[in-house]
Amino acid sequence: MKYLLRLSGEHPELPYTELTELLESCGLEYSVRRLEDLWIIVDTECDAGVFARLAYTLRVYEHVGESRDYTTLVGDVYDIISDSKTFRVSSESDSAAKRLGELLYEMGIQVNLKKPDAIVFCKKFGEDYHIGVELRIERDFESRRPQFRPFFSPTSMHPKLARALVNLSGACEGDLLLDPFCGTGGILIEAGLCGVKVAGWDVSEVMAGGCGRNLAHYGISGDIQVRDALEKSDFKCDVIATDPPYGRSSFTTDETKKIFNGFIPNAHGMLPAGGRMVLMAPDDVEIDFREFSVKHKFDVRMHKSLTRRIWILEK
Ligand SMILES: C[S@@+](CC[C@H](N)C(=O)[O-])C[C@H]1O[C@@H](n2cnc3c(N)ncnc32)[C@H](O)[C@@H]1O
Repeated sequence: MKYLLRLSGEHPELPYTELTELLESCGLEYSVRRLEDLWIIVDTECDAGVFARLAYTLRVYEHVGESRDYTTLVGDVYDIISDSKTFRVSSESDSAAKRLGELLYEMGIQVNLKKPDAIVFCKKFGEDYHIGVELRIERDFESRRPQFRPFFSPTSMHPKLARALVNLSGACEGDLLLDPFCGTGGILIEAGLCGVKVAGWDVSEVMAGGCGRNLAHYGISGDIQVRDALEKSDFKCDVIATDPPYGRSSFTTDETKKIFNGFIPNAHGMLPAGGRMVLMAPDDVEIDFREFSVKHKFDVRMHKSLTRRIWILEK
């Protein structure tokens, strides 16, 4: 099955890497063809539900076909949307939208511009028009923003970024993900919603309690403990994704280093061979990753004067 994807332009590499890491961790065979910077075709056997996990992919279409003459693809579009009562065509080309609309209408499907059952998308790349039928994938990151949860702290991360960290960690449904600095549970909520089992530690009783309440709010059960991540532990998990404390005015570079360099040796013992740890860190602190190898790193601008580095490490 071919899918046409519109990636987010928020970061030059993160959206594409999030996609390929997710497909690989799901054990799917796939090939990718880039039509333009933010537009790609993915050929894979997975069903569309897998794409609903992605944070940095804006839209997903079932790819119907490509042709210099888009009218030759109308029969294939009809086969896909024939169960729909209504449709609308979305295209930068007014003439393509109008002509495709007329042809599908003549085949018996009504037009509804406001609330159509199916959205047919048409866009020209190079010489060819590509047509897709939009797949509705519900992710709703905005409604899960930290201020809408029962327990709030300003240190909590945006659910979209948290979801990307989960996907970059390679966590599959049923795997156990640990966030050893879980705070309000931002990462754990996104992992739980993907069917990943979750465990979280926080040295603060208030945070651990609040995290448990937040998880319960989304119907997620997790093993949440008041615990110091710098203490040695024989805990075992499949992946780690975390956002350790740093960067507040009271924090010095030395304190940040102490946290990272104290936790990294512990993390190594908790993961299986090949297991991943995804870490958010300041971009100006030198971290000793010991036996971990660095698979990817991304600098993400949080706001004007703050950049964070995402490290994807592998045991
Ligand atoms: C940046 S916040 C995590 C935010 C979290 N990602 C969220 O979405 O809410 C870091 C958390 O680490 C906790 N922490 C600090 N030192 C710790 C330690 N040694 N062990 C475990 N947790 C610790 C803090 O209490 C804080 O809640």
